[in-house]
Amino acid sequence: MQSIEKESAIAQDYLSKISVQAEALFDKYLPPVTDQPCRLHEAMRYSMLAGGKRLRPALVRATFDMFGGKGENVEYAMVALEMIHTFSLIHDDLPCIDNDDFRRGKPTSHKQFGEATAVMAGDALCVLAFELMGKTGNARAIEVLAHLLSTYGLIGGEMIDIECEGKEVDLETVDYIHYHKTAALIEAALQVGAMLAGASDKDIQIIRQYGRAIGLAFQIVDDILDIVSTTEELGKDAGSDIEKGKATYPSVVGLDKSREKAKELYEESIRALDGLSCDTNVLRAIAAFIITRVK
Ligand code: IPE
Ligand code: IPE
Ligand code: MG
Ligand code: MG
Ligand code: MG
Repeated sequence: MQSIEKESAIAQDYLSKISVQAEALFDKYLPPVTDQPCRLHEAMRYSMLAGGKRLRPALVRATFDMFGGKGENVEYAMVALEMIHTFSLIHDDLPCIDNDDFRRGKPTSHKQFGEATAVMAGDALCVLAFELMGKTGNARAIEVLAHLLSTYGLIGGEMIDIECEGKEVDLETVDYIHYHKTAALIEAALQVGAMLAGASDKDIQIIRQYGRAIGLAFQIVDDILDIVSTTEELGKDAGSDIEKGKATYPSVVGLDKSREKAKELYEESIRALDGLSCDTNVLRAIAAFIITRVK
C-alpha cells in the first residue's frame, strides 16, 4: 500500500476531476436566475456554486462506477446529494443554529440574502434534490436517502447538536451527534451510488460500514480543524465550536485522542473495503484524504 499522503493526493486529483463534472451538472439542474422567484434562484446558485470539496457527489460517482453502474441516473444522484448537503449547510449557519458568517469562502446565505431567503433557499434545494432523485425511478434509493436525512439521520443529529450546546456531554452523545449529522449523509451518498448501480445487499452492507467509519472520521477532523485552522484556510468560521460550547470530539477527549480515533476509523474503513472483490482504489484514497485534509 502507498503512504497515506500519496493516497490522499490521488483522492484530491479525483475530487478535482469530479468537481468539474459535478459543477456543470449543478448549473444544468439549478433553476435559472431569470425565472421567478429570481432572488431565491440566485440564492440557491450562490451557495451551490461557491465551491466546496464536492465529497458527496464524488462518493456517489465512485461507488456507482466501482459497482459497474451504467447510464445517467448517477448524475441525478450526484446533484441531489450536493443539494441536500448545501441545504444542510445553509440552515446550519443560520443565526438560530450555528450563527456563522462565512461558508465556502463567502458570506453565508443569510448574510448575503437575509434570513428568510436563506431558509427558503435551503428548503428549495432539499425539495429539488428529491425531485431529481425521482427521475432515477429507484424508489428504494429515495427511501434510503430520505431516512438518512430524517430525524433518524442528519436532522436528528443537528437537533441533538443544538440541544447539547453549552452542556457537559459524554462520548456516546458526541458519537450520536456525529453519526447522525454527518456520517448519515456520507453513508447515503455511498449507498445511493451502490443501489443505482445494482450492487448486491451484501456489498451494500460493506459500503455502509465503510461510510459510517469515514463519516465519523470526517466530523472528528472537522472538529479538529475548527480548533487548529483559520477562517481564511477553512473558508468558514474557525473557533466557532468553542465559542458556542459545542459537543465535539476534542472537547470530550482532547486533540491527541481525537487524531488517534480518526486514524483508527480510517483503518476500520479500509478493513471494511477488504470484503469487496471490485477495485476499491478510489474509496481507499478518499478515506486517506478524509483524515489528512486541511480544509
Ligand atoms: C461541512 O462539510 C459540514 C460537515 C459535515 C462537517 P464539508 O467540509 O464537506 O463542506 P464543503 O462541501 O467542502 O464546503
Ligand atoms: C455540520 O456540523 C453538519 C451539518 C451541516 C449537517 P458543523 O456545524 O460542525 O459543520 P460546520 O463546521 O459548520 O461546517
Ligand atoms: Mg452545526
Ligand atoms: Mg456549523
Ligand atoms: Mg464544524
